[in-house]
Amino acid sequence: MAILYDAASKTFLLQAGGASYAMQVSPEGYLCHLYFGGHVGDTNLSHLLETGGGASFSPDTPEGSGSLDTLLQEYSGCNTGDFRASAIAVRAENGARAVSLKYLAHKILQGKKPPLPGLSAGQALPATYLNGLGEADTLAVAVEDAPLGLRVTLYYCVFNDAPVVTRWAAAENRGSQALHIESLQSACVEFPRMDFDMISLHGAWVRERSVERHALFHGTQTIQSRRGSSGHQLNPFAILCENNADENRGEAYGFHLVYSGNFRIEVESSQMHTTRLSMGVNPEGFSWRLEPGEGLASPEAVLCWSDEGLGGISRALHRLYRHNLIRGEWKHRARPILINSWEAAYFKFDADKLVAFAREAAKTGVDLLVMDDGWFGRRDDDTTSLGDWFVNEEKLGCSLHELAERVKAEGLQFGIWFEPEMISPDSEMHRAHPDWALHIPGRGRSLGRQQSVLNLTLPEVRENLFEQMSIVLKSADIAYLKWDFNRNLSEIFSGRFPAERQGEIAHRYVLGLYELLERLTGAFPHILFESCSGGGGRYDPGMLYYMPQTWASDNTDPVDRLRIQYGTSMCYPISSMGAHVSAGHSRGRVTSLRYRADIAMCGTFGYELDPTKLPPEDISMMKECNRKFRERQGLIANGDFYRLISPFENPNKTAWMFVAPDKSEALVQCFTVLAEGNSWDWRVYPRGLNPDALYEIDDWGFELHGDTLMRAGLRMQWFAGDFMSRNIYLKKIK
Ligand code: GLA
Repeated sequence: MAILYDAASKTFLLQAGGASYAMQVSPEGYLCHLYFGGHVGDTNLSHLLETGGGASFSPDTPEGSGSLDTLLQEYSGCNTGDFRASAIAVRAENGARAVSLKYLAHKILQGKKPPLPGLSAGQALPATYLNGLGEADTLAVAVEDAPLGLRVTLYYCVFNDAPVVTRWAAAENRGSQALHIESLQSACVEFPRMDFDMISLHGAWVRERSVERHALFHGTQTIQSRRGSSGHQLNPFAILCENNADENRGEAYGFHLVYSGNFRIEVESSQMHTTRLSMGVNPEGFSWRLEPGEGLASPEAVLCWSDEGLGGISRALHRLYRHNLIRGEWKHRARPILINSWEAAYFKFDADKLVAFAREAAKTGVDLLVMDDGWFGRRDDDTTSLGDWFVNEEKLGCSLHELAERVKAEGLQFGIWFEPEMISPDSEMHRAHPDWALHIPGRGRSLGRQQSVLNLTLPEVRENLFEQMSIVLKSADIAYLKWDFNRNLSEIFSGRFPAERQGEIAHRYVLGLYELLERLTGAFPHILFESCSGGGGRYDPGMLYYMPQTWASDNTDPVDRLRIQYGTSMCYPISSMGAHVSAGHSRGRVTSLRYRADIAMCGTFGYELDPTKLPPEDISMMKECNRKFRERQGLIANGDFYRLISPFENPNKTAWMFVAPDKSEALVQCFTVLAEGNSWDWRVYPRGLNPDALYEIDDWGFELHGDTLMRAGLRMQWFAGDFMSRNIYLKKIK
């Protein structure tokens, strides 16, 4: 059991892989934080308990035991003397907004329990899961605010073999009056120090997940989304690390929210130079009315620790998500190499054209053809038909069934694109149900890409989508589905709910989306689902729970992709990262197909191009690249990922590598952008190898031990020129 409780001192010690997490109930009953970091074995940690002293101007607790304002707490309240960020905020019927939580009871549960309640009975929120008993245990600590009749259960799922604790909170109204929950964070994590750097992933459409790092300052630093989805702009992920931590060394903490809507990660460094991180659904615009007897659960927060720097955090999260988040038949299966019609044809295609793509692609070893946007309703551009999910047979020249069979006859599987959450004003659906689009009566409807967002809080909307999509998916042999989402939410309102419940709509939208996804992925378990939102605008662990891969970016320029994929790898497994080779020189940059393919191999791999227009040498190169990718696919998808040279720090060089879990093989990938004067001779230092093992180095004609390779490095001599790539395969021979 990884959860220890010392009854005499009321101390909890959670042992998660190499990490420990400790807390203690103070004599006054407050649940106080003691420690989170590398393994500690002692439970007698009471000397770490803060006394809540030293804060002039901050009132004492009603028990007179010092101030909550300086106490390190597990779940902070509000308006009761702690002036830092609150984990929970509740307004009572009389308008008073105050919470102060005290320990009530706890339970230690085998496994991971209970499921996080979702929209309706029997429906759970996306969350990490266990593959068997013994993988993790759960601590449930009940705390209460007696005057409110509010009980909150704080859950800690402690993984035995991973330095990971996941947390969520469930509020319950046990009083006699309605409560208005204005914030219910998933976790509040305290540190007795602030000498940390914070790392986050910012971006924009076609520039997703750039790595940004700054030293913590006094006050609040926040990353968040108010867009209704997690967004391109900031990922629900942050690292706090020692100021001198790098890719390989130093203590680091990773925080990730399993949620796809408005989120907030707030880091506050206090007057006492301590740091509080709180994370969860963004309280801005949020409120949830809890009637007596009702409950509300937060999404799950993933907390991870490493003393192997940022790389250690990434590898722990990659492993966790591959084994304990991604589900279904495709979880461990080799994913198909696919070719997508979007950049090849945009809206201008018919069945003959798609079959011609398939015929040419089949010669190179591609596995699957995806028919992207433009096959339904009357959709020949992006002004129409979202919501009308019936096949435009006139445009295709045949039925969907016939098209899929023709593609299969060429030797490829068939996949299809949907954007289910959207509605075009010019659509049959909109003409029949104008109220299904999110809108506020009496106010203009803001369109994005000429479309509105469907009100997924309405059960009839979800039912309609399920039915329409099921008909299409049953009508043909469909092996893959790309689920797109091409604008953010505005005019968030639902006439179905009373005024005081409008603060629930944004969260209910996400819950409705999750319910629909659960139903569809359950009904079509053989289909490989790929999430997309104008590229990587909703790349988050919530979506990964339903769809094992996400199209990382609409930007397929290889140089930009170096940064996008490097940044994405901070928290997402390579096996989840949609990466394709395109013909388009979208940024006017001309590079070889081989260079583009080598970069796309750090992902799920595929193409966005018209193979009928490629010169014969590129067709041969495609064949060669597909063969190479197949050979290394297992290593790339399941290997431990090490970032070696950062494109954010070195504009002209990038390197990363994949190491088999048993260290029997590795693949180092090195890339240049522009050639630099006098820099034709540089080194790359592999990581993660077995120091004592002897590795054969590709076709270099000699072998070296792991320690030599890692310490002395590989010499990239004569590896010069613009847009060059090199793959170096290391095979353990002894
Ligand atoms: C989004 C996606 C693209 C493509 C288009 C189709 O932008 O990211 O890959 O599917 O929509 O409209």
